[in-house]
Amino acid sequence: MPKIFLETLQRKPTVRKPIWLMRQAGRYLPDYRAVRQQAGSFLELCLNPDLAAEVTLQPIRHFGMDAAIIFADILLVPYALGLNLTFQEGEGPVLPPCRDASSLKDLHWQFDRVAAVAASLQRVKAALPDETALIGFAGSPWTVACYMLEGHGKTGFPTARALATTEPQLVQELLEILHHATLDYLLRQIAAGAECLQLFDSWAGLLTDDADFNAFVIQPTRRLVTALREQQPDLPIIGFPRGATLAQYRRYARETGITMLGLDQNLTLAEAQQLQNIIPVQGNLDPAILVRGGDELTSAVDALLNNLGSAHVVNLGHGVVPETPPAHVKMMVAQVKNFRH
Ligand code: CP3
Repeated sequence: MPKIFLETLQRKPTVRKPIWLMRQAGRYLPDYRAVRQQAGSFLELCLNPDLAAEVTLQPIRHFGMDAAIIFADILLVPYALGLNLTFQEGEGPVLPPCRDASSLKDLHWQFDRVAAVAASLQRVKAALPDETALIGFAGSPWTVACYMLEGHGKTGFPTARALATTEPQLVQELLEILHHATLDYLLRQIAAGAECLQLFDSWAGLLTDDADFNAFVIQPTRRLVTALREQQPDLPIIGFPRGATLAQYRRYARETGITMLGLDQNLTLAEAQQLQNIIPVQGNLDPAILVRGGDELTSAVDALLNNLGSAHVVNLGHGVVPETPPAHVKMMVAQVKNFRH
């Protein structure tokens, strides 16, 4: 059975465009909330292979997405480096900040702490319909470094941004640690059944200076992609430098070696078309439109389907938000599945 998500990544012709949504498993689903409560904490949910596999499969069962993304979190990498990670209600993630050489020395990669993610992937792989692809993921080194330098994720990362300028050496040392950790983590995900990887660089847009964007986003991503391909030459990799400028997106598409570019909703359709001339694209419906639904949703999805070429995976420009009515997700998926290009 062909997987149209993977075929689109390989630029092969497909009968229709594939769709999945970032954060397609999450609080907007009543059955997610039930499992989340059963698990106790968010971290316990991520590290329980039975429950993590169950919530990964929920959106596939409800909506028939063309890809499942394994249920985990980008902050499991700092957790496996030995940091104490908590997710507090209304506060987001909290971890001890790493802002000097001695705290970097204490970081040691222990895959065992997150081996549950590999077990979740194996369970999901065994249960997925034949036509559904399985995506593994990690945060890009810069975005994970933002949380580690700051110690939490609520305020626009003023410390991380300042340290990128005042202590570039320290930031580079942290990126070096994250490179090796993320490489091992992703290779283990592939060994466990992931068929594609997405690198989330959610805070790429903080680096408005092009030299910083190059040093902290493009170069670490290029290095990671190169190292992954040394082991897995044909591996499809989606890169998502959220919030970057059009010029930065273009450079990222040309220089990192990724297979597909994830677009955020700040890019216009005309800009998305320009990027699609360079590389296949994924995105970029505004998650707020999915919340509002109605004719606005139908026309926005129509515009995406009609204006972007066939090398396109339909998705949001960022994750599904908790306020989203599941019925709107159902409508969007049906509209994409009925469209013939
Ligand atoms: O369905 C999927 O997309 C897979 C699961 C997934 C989660 N996080 C689950 C999650 C993925 C791919 C992520 C990635 C992630 N995590 C990113 C990159 C994408 C982005 O949103 O920019 C980032 C920055 C994180 C870090 C993170 N995790 C934050 C800032 C928060 C708190 C914010 C919030 O929504 O509560 C989380 C928690 C989190 N990760 C939740 C989920 C479903 C909500 C926690 C809960 O259920 O209580």
